[in-house]
Amino acid sequence: MTREARLGTMVTAEGARREPFHRWMSYRQGFAPELVRLFLREADGWVRRRADTPLLDPFSGSGTFAVECARRNVHALGVEAMASLAFLASVAGEKGVPPLPDVGACLTWEQTADRLKLSVHRAALMYAVGRRHTSAGKLNRNAPPLLDALDEVVRMMRDDMRKPLPLVNPVRPGDARKLEAIDAGSIGGILTSPPYLSRHDYTRVLRPYEEVYQHWYPGRSPAQQIADQIAAHPAVLRRAKPVSPKFLR
Ligand SMILES: C[S@@+](CC[C@H](N)C(=O)[O-])C[C@H]1O[C@@H](n2cnc3c(N)ncnc32)[C@H](O)[C@@H]1O
Repeated sequence: MTREARLGTMVTAEGARREPFHRWMSYRQGFAPELVRLFLREADGWVRRRADTPLLDPFSGSGTFAVECARRNVHALGVEAMASLAFLASVAGEKGVPPLPDVGACLTWEQTADRLKLSVHRAALMYAVGRRHTSAGKLNRNAPPLLDALDEVVRMMRDDMRKPLPLVNPVRPGDARKLEAIDAGSIGGILTSPPYLSRHDYTRVLRPYEEVYQHWYPGRSPAQQIADQIAAHPAVLRRAKPVSPKFLR
């Protein structure tokens, strides 16, 4: 294990805000796309020797790793506990955004969600709802109206997909502590940034995305996911900030 001070500024999502594909979501816990590029540059020979085995990010988050690898034709696989994030990352492999159905009369995100059938439109709505919230998951009072945010996201996705990713690198919902589905020896290498459960409550940060996602694909609610995390990490979470009771409803 070594510490490299030069990498410090890349363990933030700062650089992602202006980059195609990454700019769709502002995920403060993400790392910079440049960190992945640096890794792929510096480990180029090593990655090429393992070209038949995908690289893995077991804490995939917003999918920075899967997208940057795809952009460079490197096979990669992501695993992420929050199903909404795994869904969003999978949409990056789409080749374009067809025109939205007529949502002009919709007053709420729920009404808008009921009109959307395509994954790429559903992802755009999740990003639009996410943009109306702060990075801590709270509604931002100065946020643009939902349909304006949706138009802006669709425009951005369409522009970026003009140059589609040459590969589709899958990101699967799952638990990095139970990777039985991945055969031993089938992974070429790992680049990841693990969760800091004592600092961030991911279910709160991601609540806007999860709520919209679960409108179409109901599963474990954010409150149930918090209960799962507490059950799995009681010692760590006892030291963390207490979870607001309203999330445990
Ligand atoms: C620091 S973030 C990774 C961010 C990612 N590098 C990016 O660029 O977006 C850690 C991620 O791990 C996820 N996570 C937490 N516990 C997990 C688990 N047991 N299995 C898989 N993912 C988990 C969190 O939801 C969070 O998205």
